[in-house]
Amino acid sequence: MIVTTCGNSIPIAKALAKKLKAKYSPLSISSFPDGDIYLKYNTPVKGKKVIIVQSFQPRSDMSLFDIIFAAETAKDLGAKKVILVAPYLAYMRQDTRFNPGEAISSKIMAKLLNNSIDKIITVDPHIHRYKSLKDIFTISAKKLTADTIIADFIKKKMKNVVIIGPDWESYQWADVIAKQIGAESTCLAKTRYSSRTVTSKLINPIDMKGKNVVIVDDIISTGHTMIEGAKKAKKLGAKSITAIGIHGLFVEHGYEQMKKYFDNIYTTNCIEHKSNKIDVTSLFVKELK
Ligand code: R5P
Repeated sequence: MIVTTCGNSIPIAKALAKKLKAKYSPLSISSFPDGDIYLKYNTPVKGKKVIIVQSFQPRSDMSLFDIIFAAETAKDLGAKKVILVAPYLAYMRQDTRFNPGEAISSKIMAKLLNNSIDKIITVDPHIHRYKSLKDIFTISAKKLTADTIIADFIKKKMKNVVIIGPDWESYQWADVIAKQIGAESTCLAKTRYSSRTVTSKLINPIDMKGKNVVIVDDIISTGHTMIEGAKKAKKLGAKSITAIGIHGLFVEHGYEQMKKYFDNIYTTNCIEHKSNKIDVTSLFVKELK
């Protein structure tokens, strides 16, 4: 077994290789002067299982392209099987045509991967309008979840906690995590006006006065959704406000903006960032052993 990466998720790739007693060998990827991609394996892969570990952030577009080149090259070189470990799978939020003429990006991304890899393993993909990954993937597709790891992290770090999901979609995580730590939970009703403008309302209020409020979401992109949640918690008398994101993208200075509203910001290492405090590597080890 060979564990490789196109440049993202190097710490997970190295740790995974060590735990699986596999060889870690990163790809060489660069561009020709005209911008064409150049990709090279640095170890023989003939007859081997190749695990490509690559989060789709940063550079979601190039990550997709690099993964396809890496998978096709592995097969061309005689690899037995190509498995993609994508701690963060991008393009999942565009799961319908919200406006006439739009691309349904998640379907296109999956179609490209279906053609080139044998199996995909990912963590908490943004599944909203689909029932499961099977709706778009024809290859074997495994969805892992970080909810227990997050619940354990909260249990170790905080007491007197309530959990909030900043929108209905996030309640699937907020509710499960709250149940695991025996805390109360609720979620906000979010209205999205654009990729950068959201408002939210507290429909089922819970007592937040003097509590350590933890707001949990799958994706933190610009941070606006989280900030709306923090404003509500503050109004209701929260003692402290913590953000936990499974996938911390923090685009457009999202992290710096969020720091004005949150006492703590923690993420998993599905996307590398200085807020990474929750390690998901063990999830992949169990799946690949
Ligand atoms: C979408 O529904 C996701 O679960 C997140 O709530 C969303 O991606 C967060 O985006 P932003 O940080 O830009 O508000």
